[in-house]
Amino acid sequence: MAQLLITGGAGFIGSHTALVLLEAGHSLVVLDNFQNSSPESLRRVQELAGPEAAAKLRVVEGDIRSAADLEEALGSSTDAVVHFAGLKAVGESVAKPLAYWDVNVCGSRQLLAAMQRAGCRTLVFSSSATLYGIPDVVPIPESAPVQPINPYGHSKAAVERMLSDLAASEPGWRIACLRYFNPVGAHPSGRLGEDPNGIPNNLFPFVSQVAVGRRNRLSVFGGDWPTPDGSGVRDYIHVMDLAEGHRAAVDVLLAEDPQLLTLNLGSGQGHSVLEVVAAFEAASGQAVPYEVVARRPGDAATTVADPSLAAELLRWRTQRGLSQMCRDGWAWQSANPQGYAS
Ligand code: NAD
Ligand code: WQD
Repeated sequence: MAQLLITGGAGFIGSHTALVLLEAGHSLVVLDNFQNSSPESLRRVQELAGPEAAAKLRVVEGDIRSAADLEEALGSSTDAVVHFAGLKAVGESVAKPLAYWDVNVCGSRQLLAAMQRAGCRTLVFSSSATLYGIPDVVPIPESAPVQPINPYGHSKAAVERMLSDLAASEPGWRIACLRYFNPVGAHPSGRLGEDPNGIPNNLFPFVSQVAVGRRNRLSVFGGDWPTPDGSGVRDYIHVMDLAEGHRAAVDVLLAEDPQLLTLNLGSGQGHSVLEVVAAFEAASGQAVPYEVVARRPGDAATTVADPSLAAELLRWRTQRGLSQMCRDGWAWQSANPQGYAS
């Protein structure tokens, strides 16, 4: 079993992954500044993991841009880092590009330098399908051009570039860049889930907040896309499948020779906005009123992963479909209507 540092481990994907890694027997340090999360998520991770595993989780409140915080979190015996910490809102990145270059790019550079000093050269990095921009080919293979269309996407592409330069500069690096498609859903207990600040940017949390009565209606961004029902199509991935993908990536990196992997994590299945609305209504028993409005700038009609490389190299594939994403998302939203502040 390994000693792991999880940056951003209190966040949506980090908290679910922390639970899966604890359940697999690993020891964790979570480094998070709680700028977009709450320590309550980690208390619940410990509760779900049980007392024995919970004792293997240490929390450091700190910033990935601080060498001192990184040194405290890494210590001298970290086997691998899973790096979630970052900013992730596309619209905000257009308004505040320097914040995205600072946290996502400079923060990652600080982390890598601290790992070099600590002698740890194994890293799983949260990349994003956003770096494919408007894709030319769907399903999208990893060989598709990297052509981001917003500062958030540029920051993820820059970190991938930095990682490949680093891996080429000295032997021994074991790196997995995992390009997530659309992570949604929650832990089936309803104790962990996604808790966005303010008005959600993303479809799934918006739909759940309409179902629970926090918002009146969903705006469907475009009804005239070249898709079967005219609404946008995406590759939604259950956050527990995604968490298990990270466990597989850690295992593969630690077991195999040094390598740099770049992998899509998605299901390979596309679902339209209107299909998501219908599935969420069925899972929750609640109405989700919507109106079709203009397209959102920067959206693609369809983005769906080609997940075959991850299946081959990680021996991992998604297990949970859209109805389970909605059922578990509703378990979380209905039990925690105001998120962790409920
Ligand atoms: P999140 O905001 O819930 O989690 C990010 C965590 O990082 C939060 O707990 C936040 O407090 C922490 N953090 C932010 N800046 C920090 C800093 N400077 N120092 C220390 N901690 C800091 O986001 P998430 O959805 O869990 O996403 C995790 C990662 O996955 C991000 O890197 C994101 O870009 C990437 N990603 C997310 C999605 C998605 O749709 N959720 C898709 C693709 C990629
Ligand atoms: C999904 C579909 C919208 C909201 C984003 C980031 C990407 C990644 C995942 C981090 C689209 C439609 C949405 C709403 C709607 N994050 N929609 N009404 O844009 O595929 O990806 O999150 O890396 O980088 O770009 O996800 O959930 O915003 O949109 O009709 O209120 O839902 O047009 O078709 P997206 P999303």
